[in-house]
Amino acid sequence: MRVTHLSLTDFRNYESAELDLAPGPNLFVGSNGQGKTNLVEALGYLSTLASHRTSSDHAMIRAGCDSAIVRARVSNDEQSVLVEVQLNRVGANRAQINRSAIKTRELPRYFASVLFAPEDLALVRGEPSGRRRFMDELLILRTPRMAAVLADYDRVLRQRNSLLKSARAAGARGSLGTLDIWDERLVELGTAIIEARADLVDELAPEVELAYAAIAGKEHAASLAGQLSILSSGAGDGDADSPQELVDRDRLSGEQTAHAFRAALVRVRRAELERGITLAGPHRDDLILTLNDLPARGYASHGESWSFALALKLASAAVLRRESSSGDPVLILDDVFAELDESRRDRLAGAVDGFEQVLITAAVGGDVPIRLAGNSVLIRAGAIVLVGDDDA
Ligand SMILES: Nc1ncnc2c1ncn2[C@@H]1O[C@H](COP(=O)(O)OP(=O)(O)OP(=O)(O)O)[C@@H](O)[C@H]1O
Ligand SMILES: [Mg+2]
Repeated sequence: MRVTHLSLTDFRNYESAELDLAPGPNLFVGSNGQGKTNLVEALGYLSTLASHRTSSDHAMIRAGCDSAIVRARVSNDEQSVLVEVQLNRVGANRAQINRSAIKTRELPRYFASVLFAPEDLALVRGEPSGRRRFMDELLILRTPRMAAVLADYDRVLRQRNSLLKSARAAGARGSLGTLDIWDERLVELGTAIIEARADLVDELAPEVELAYAAIAGKEHAASLAGQLSILSSGAGDGDADSPQELVDRDRLSGEQTAHAFRAALVRVRRAELERGITLAGPHRDDLILTLNDLPARGYASHGESWSFALALKLASAAVLRRESSSGDPVLILDDVFAELDESRRDRLAGAVDGFEQVLITAAVGGDVPIRLAGNSVLIRAGAIVLVGDDDA
């Protein structure tokens, strides 16, 4: 799919903007702080209902205004729809398809994008929670019913944690009467999550390997593997850096997973009662990223970490593209080229060549390979000042 036209009203530093977009690569250039990221953030929001850099929708409403509107015409081979969201400072956000109201949460069904931004470096360097979020967001995009399973698991986890906390507070006299019931629900929902993530890792791993090699060259091997807290010994404090955790484990069946989960809960019971939190389950799992046989976290260089994060995003785009009936997701690359060396820039340009539409931002146009600069747009102070072609 592709976006043919974007309109913004009171979004971030844009009072009002209208922009036609071309198929293939589109380049947004401009000095720092002019509105390049804001533009692509608006499109990212339409496909995920979230910003990649803030958890507050209000930050996206232009200062001093009550609401912001993002409207995009999205086309694929079969149809063209007008997708619109209004962010409100007071009251709920509103969404429309072809000018008719729909439930806001239905919006992502009409537009798919995969956005890579500097914040994604945390996928490689940051805490496990960021990697779990990456997996779960992709799970929901592929299988929307996983949203309910993940939400139910969170709810059961919170209930179970508060039971553990009150048992701890009550000391030896504490009652654990209903813990068994919560354990069974935790195992049931947790097993579904562990299995779905394992399926996803199976699909993503070869794509990550391909994407990394496409950016960095064939001599580099990037791999990923799930790390399950229910299999770690001890109190479930999976230590991502210990080498024995990097050994590939055979894939467990659903029954084996549930069995291992129950066994882990027995193993950690005492520590859980001491600490008042649940110590085993998918909420403590991780995704182990390995580059040329070394863990990426703590070992990879800046450029390598950057390339790995990018490979994860390109791989998720490849997985979505394979399964989508409405064409490729729109690929959004915010500020990626400045961090890569010349040869990686060229390779990346080649790797994104086949995508229906790619949106690229850069503070310095010269950082972007010329083959991606055909349709370039100059952004200055929240305005589209120049739309140029070929001679960019
Ligand atoms: N809600 C808002 N209202 C008004 N202005 C805003 C709002 N949110 C952000 N801005 C302004 O938008 C500008 C940042 O825009 P953006 O992040 O798109 O810059 P950029 O062109 O991507 O720059 P860089 O090259 O540094 O990444 C900042 O000047 C910021 O103050
Ligand atoms: Mg930016």
